[in-house]
Amino acid sequence: MADDAILAHGLTKNYGKLVAVDHVEMAVPRGSRFGLLGPNGAGKTTIIKMLTGLAPITEGTASVAGYDVARDPMNVKKRVGWVAAEVILDDDLSGWENLWLQAQLQRLSDWKGRAQQLLEYFELADRKKDKVGTYSTGMRKKMEIALALLHQPEVIFMDEPTIGLDPNVRRMLWGLITGVNREFDVTILLTSHYIEEADALCDRVAIIDHGKFVATGTPAELKSRVKADFVELETSEAVTEERLAAIAGVSNVRSQGNTWILRVSSAEEVLPRLFHALKTDGIRRINVEKPSLESVFIDITGKRLDQGSGDVQDYRKFYMNLRRARQ
Ligand SMILES: Nc1ncnc2c1ncn2[C@@H]1O[C@H](COP(=O)(O)OP(=O)(O)O)[C@@H](O)[C@H]1O
Ligand SMILES: [Mg+2]
Repeated sequence: MADDAILAHGLTKNYGKLVAVDHVEMAVPRGSRFGLLGPNGAGKTTIIKMLTGLAPITEGTASVAGYDVARDPMNVKKRVGWVAAEVILDDDLSGWENLWLQAQLQRLSDWKGRAQQLLEYFELADRKKDKVGTYSTGMRKKMEIALALLHQPEVIFMDEPTIGLDPNVRRMLWGLITGVNREFDVTILLTSHYIEEADALCDRVAIIDHGKFVATGTPAELKSRVKADFVELETSEAVTEERLAAIAGVSNVRSQGNTWILRVSSAEEVLPRLFHALKTDGIRRINVEKPSLESVFIDITGKRLDQGSGDVQDYRKFYMNLRRARQ
């Protein structure tokens, strides 16, 4: 349909025997922000590479900005921009010179007005003659996005745009991404393995694991599907699955390495029973996941997406927070 900036049917990529992207269906409306959320190796970058014509499609079809990616790659390339984690700025050139270089690479003749407009939008105009090497991380990010916008693309692909950034710059970039989407009327497809990022930025999210879309919807829709809490648990002594499953309120028990993941009706109700059953001394680490995109991922795949970055808390802290919330 013409109202979709990105359309894919049965999109598949094989690298030898590995199926990196496995029959993906996607329809991204023009002007929207779509997120591919999944762990490392899930196939996010490969999808972008196929959609931008950088990697041949093994099977299936895709069109971007109204053009078939396999049959008409030049028309696609003219209409898309790409912001990737790899640095694309030339530190020895000024901001303006970087824009000039980008214009040469894309064979743009009439670019100066647009370049100036972008510099003003990103509040870089007064630094345009300074070498990019002297810019802060936030300014560099703005410059990268300005370069991607120079040829007035209809679709921008952002591959893990905030990976490795400190939280302040990340938040700043979130604001920028939403702003660019509205101000320049550009469709954004971004990939992330940060739960909060997909939640905060995207109108729709596809959760991807091992090359497959395992769930698609608005963040709110996805979260409302999970009517349970998850308790992640590490114990100092061996515990059997039966013993955990026998606790009232526990509806599912899975293990990931030496960690247990329990699906429970309500963490507040089940935790006291859990402490009683296991004796608090036997619990090395405990983490509660309330309905979130993380719990959607856990529910479907049985494992955590955001390995290690979850709010790890001990049960005393958890209760302290609960008590505080109730006052
Ligand atoms: N050029 C390549 N050759 C062989 N395997 C690849 C290549 N690129 C990616 N892969 C594999 O395809 C899978 C998906 O990779 P990728 O799309 O980079 O995942 P993500 O971006 O979600 O981290 C991984 O198993 C990865 O090792
Ligand atoms: Mg990637």
